[in-house]
Amino acid sequence: MIIRRLQTSDLGAIERIERRSYPTPWSRSMFAAELAKPSSICLGAFDAKAGLVAYLIISRYVDAWHVMNVAVEPEHRGRGIATLLFDRLFELTAADRRRGYTLEVRVSNTAAIRLYERLGFTSRGIRRGYYTDNREDALVMWRDPLARAVGA
Ligand SMILES: CC(C)(COP(=O)(O)OP(=O)(O)OC[C@H]1O[C@@H](n2cnc3c(N)ncnc32)[C@H](O)[C@@H]1OP(=O)(O)O)[C@@H](O)C(=O)NCCC(=O)NCCS
Repeated sequence: MIIRRLQTSDLGAIERIERRSYPTPWSRSMFAAELAKPSSICLGAFDAKAGLVAYLIISRYVDAWHVMNVAVEPEHRGRGIATLLFDRLFELTAADRRRGYTLEVRVSNTAAIRLYERLGFTSRGIRRGYYTDNREDALVMWRDPLARAVGA
């Protein structure tokens, strides 16, 4: 598995994974905007045979790195690929000791919540009705700058 920064030429593959991963997927132009932002880090995981199989998009804000999007091609889930992407991200941002990491996740998304907890994120609160498609609540999670993954 190779991890590298995403490029405009990856947009087609990103879109295919996105549509298979979310009930209300991001549009191509939302990804293109993230790719163009100097304050965003957009990483892709590439399999020798399948090409792009996962991506992670994170944006730098004043007080924290905000996880904007993470998805793994359904056939490639449960193999540690999301973990690999986050490990690379934590490496790339390790020098930034002032900023922690934050994200929102659907309260029903137990697979993702388990993954984030294993990576050292903890729950910090609930945003009621955050998701406009079904009014589902979001769990707000936070990871301190120097947190270590559980068990690491
Ligand atoms: C959430 C998501 C990104 C996780 O990606 P993933 O690559 O499957 O995550 P990982 O493989 O790193 O971790 C998932 C599980 O696989 C297990 N795993 C990791 N490496 C493994 C390996 N080599 N063999 C078997 N299992 C392994 C992990 O222990 C983990 O199990 P646990 O979380 O139950 O403890 C993926 O399910 C997804 O794309 N979902 C749809 C989009 C989504 O919901 N995104 C999050 C929105 S907030």
